[in-house]
Amino acid sequence: MENKPPIALGVLVSGNGSNLQAIIDRIETGALNARVACVISNNPDAYALKRAARHNIPVVIHENSRFSSRKEYDAALVQILQDQGVELVVLAGFMRILSEVMVSAFPNAILNIHPALLPAFPGLHAQKQALDYGVRYTGCTVHIVDCGTDTGPIILQAVVPVDQDDTEQSLSERIQREEHRTFPEAIRLFSEGRITVEGRRVHILP
Ligand code: GRF
Repeated sequence: MENKPPIALGVLVSGNGSNLQAIIDRIETGALNARVACVISNNPDAYALKRAARHNIPVVIHENSRFSSRKEYDAALVQILQDQGVELVVLAGFMRILSEVMVSAFPNAILNIHPALLPAFPGLHAQKQALDYGVRYTGCTVHIVDCGTDTGPIILQAVVPVDQDDTEQSLSERIQREEHRTFPEAIRLFSEGRITVEGRRVHILP
């Protein structure tokens, strides 16, 4: 029997929100003991906001243009997340690099999903980078966020073979299927207190 209260997630988005949806779905089936306390978007037109509204999740639009520096933006973001009682921050397609202000406010408690097998192909257009390079396998990575671009300690990865006739679109779709499985799984491990970090290495407790 599950006695622990659900962990409060703050999900940060900028776009479609299919990963947000996968997390919501996993919570609703009872497979993930969590609740989405709020969805925050830097893009007022993000489709993810509609998904959140459909599930009665509070949304906050936190636009880049209202702040003159990354640190000011992040300080306000920390305030919103803390006001909502967020315990774990989930970057689900959030198209901004976080500063020290955010990273130190949530130590080892910010997760990101990246559409490649890090440390290969960090940054934007990871699927195109993989195709252009000619790798036979790529995939996705869930990692803890530090101040670098896709550099933090790795929690889970899933491998996706690259087909000869793959396009950026077809490869992205297959990677996303793995994202939708691995991201909620990593959140579950975190919520069960099973993740410890030692330097770059993440240990997953049985
Ligand atoms: C995903 O491909 C994720 O790996 C990357 O941004 C994309 C977000 O997709 N960080 P969605 O908005 O969750 O559909």
